[in-house]
Amino acid sequence: MTNQKEIEKRRTFGIIAHPDAGKTTLTEKLLLFGGAIQTAGAVKSNKIKKSATSDFMEIEQQRGISVATSVMAFDYRDKHINILDTPGHKDFAEDTYRTLTAVDSVILVIDNASGVESQTEKLMEVCRMRNTPVIVFINKMDRYGKDAFELLDEIETKLGIGVRPLAWPIGMGDDFKGVYNMHEQELSLFHGNKTGISEELVKFTDLDNKELDEIIGDEAANELREEVELVDGVYDEFNMEDYLSGKIAPVFFGSAVNNFGVRELLNAFVDISPSPRGRDTDQGFIEPSAPKFSGFVFKIHANLDPKHRDRIAFLRIVSGKFERNTFYKHVRNGKKIKFPNPTSFMAQDKSIVDEAFPGDVIGLYDTGNFKIGDTLTEGKDFNFVGIPSFSPEFFQELRNDDPMKSKQLDKGIRQLMDEGVAQMFIQEPGSRKIIGTVGQLQFEVILYRLLHEYGAKCSFTPMNYHKACWMTSDKPEEIEKFLKAKTGNIAKDKDDNYVFLAETPFLLEMAERDYPAITFHKTSEFKVK
Ligand code: G4P
Repeated sequence: MTNQKEIEKRRTFGIIAHPDAGKTTLTEKLLLFGGAIQTAGAVKSNKIKKSATSDFMEIEQQRGISVATSVMAFDYRDKHINILDTPGHKDFAEDTYRTLTAVDSVILVIDNASGVESQTEKLMEVCRMRNTPVIVFINKMDRYGKDAFELLDEIETKLGIGVRPLAWPIGMGDDFKGVYNMHEQELSLFHGNKTGISEELVKFTDLDNKELDEIIGDEAANELREEVELVDGVYDEFNMEDYLSGKIAPVFFGSAVNNFGVRELLNAFVDISPSPRGRDTDQGFIEPSAPKFSGFVFKIHANLDPKHRDRIAFLRIVSGKFERNTFYKHVRNGKKIKFPNPTSFMAQDKSIVDEAFPGDVIGLYDTGNFKIGDTLTEGKDFNFVGIPSFSPEFFQELRNDDPMKSKQLDKGIRQLMDEGVAQMFIQEPGSRKIIGTVGQLQFEVILYRLLHEYGAKCSFTPMNYHKACWMTSDKPEEIEKFLKAKTGNIAKDKDDNYVFLAETPFLLEMAERDYPAITFHKTSEFKVK
C-alpha cells in the first residue's frame, strides 16, 4: 500500500471527559465494536480511583496500566483507528494536554446529569487552541439527567463551540426509548443489555408516519416530532468544514454501558473525522504526505522497574514512513539513533513494528535521550512546535536533604522534568529549585521516584504562588524594567525563559495594569505561534 493510502486509512483521536462521565466505558465499547477485545471489562481503567486519599502504590500500579493503554488501535470498516488514552485524574491533566497535541480529533463525553464540568472546560480550551475537531457524545441517557436542549446550550456557552445534534434522544432514564438519528433517518430502539451488542434499527424517512406512534407510543412520538422540528429550526445544517475547523461539534446521545448509540457514534466518526493532519515546525508546515519521515515525542513514561532506568517515549508520526532499525536524526542533540524494538499497542497487546505511518503512535525504548517535544527526522533539521507548557497551579521549593547526593538529585530531577512529571523553575540567587505542578499528587510522585530511582532524599517547602506567567512585549526595555522591579518573583523555565511568579490573582492584575506594554501568558504556547 502506498503511503497516501495508509494515511487516508488512519484516524487518530482522543476521548476526553470529566472523570466518571464514561470515558473508560466508551473506550471499551469502541474496542468491542472494532473486535480488538472480546469481552467487556477487558480494558482496565487507567484512572486513579477518585478517593481523595489515593495511596501511592495505587498510583504506581495505575501508571503501569496506563502504559499498556496509552494507545489502543483497532480496525473498523476500512479504517485503522488509534485511540490515544488520556489520564482521567485531574492531577495528571498536563499529560492529557500534551496528548491532545498528538491527536487529529476528539470525542468529548458528557454525563447527561452533570453536564459540562470544570475539567472539560480546561480540556476544551486546549482543543480550541489548535482548532481540533470535536464530536460530542452525551452519555448515560438511561439515567435521568438534564434536558437535551439545556445541555446543548451549556456546551455552547461554557465550551465556546457551536453544536449540531445529528441524533435526538427519545426520553431518558426509565422512559428512555432510544435515539432518532436525523443524519441517517433511522430510529434506534433502546434495549438495555450490558453484555451483548443490542440494537434495533428502524428506517424512518418520514417522522409523520403513524408507525412511529405504534412503536414508541403517541406521546413520545409527538414529542420527538416537535423536538426534531425545533432542532432543525434552531441549529444550522451540519457543515463539514465547520466541524473540521473546530467551530461546530456534532452531538450524539447514548448509553455507553449499555452499548447504546456507540455504533452510530463510531460510524459517524469514521465518516467525518479527519485523516492524519500535518503539524507546524519552526521551518514551516509539514504535510503528512511529505515523503521523508518525521515525528515528535509527546509523552515519556518511566519504566516501573527502579533498577532499570529505561523509559518509553511515545512518538507521533507526522510524515513519511518510520522503519525499524533505521537511523533517524534526533534534532535537539544532533545525534543519529536507530530503534531495534519500536512498539505498537493493540488494546492490551504490545508488538514490535517494522514500519509505521502518519497518525500512528509508537513507543521507543529510551535510556534518557528524549525530552517531551523532541523531533525525530530522516535528516532535516527542524523542530515541531506546539507542545505547550501550562502555568502550574501548585508550587513548592525542592530541598536537598542529603548533600552527598546532590549529583543524583540533579540528574533525577532533570530526567523527571524531561518526562513532563512537573515543571521546574530556577530562581536566583542560589539556584533555588521551584517545582510547579497541576496537582498535589505529583509532589508525592517526585519524592518517591527521586528516592527509589535515584537514591536522592529531598523534601518540599510549599510556596505561596498562584501562577507562573511567561512574558512578551514589543518593548524589551519594559520587560527589563519589570525584571528589575520584581526580582523576588522572577525565575527561569527549562528553556531559560523568564517567568513571573505571581502570588495572587490580584498581584497579577496589578502587574498587568502597571506594565500595559507587557503581555502575561498562562501558557508557553505563544512562543510557537
Ligand atoms: P471515566 O473513565 O470517564 O472516569 O468513567 P467510567 O467509564 O469509569 O464510568 C464511570 C461510571 O459510570 C462507571 O460506574 C460506569 O459503569 C458508569 N457508566 C458509564 N456509562 C454509563 C451509562 O451509559 N449509563 C450508566 N447508568 N452508567 C454508566 P461505576 O459504578 O463508577 O463503576 P463500575 O463499577 O460500574 O465499573
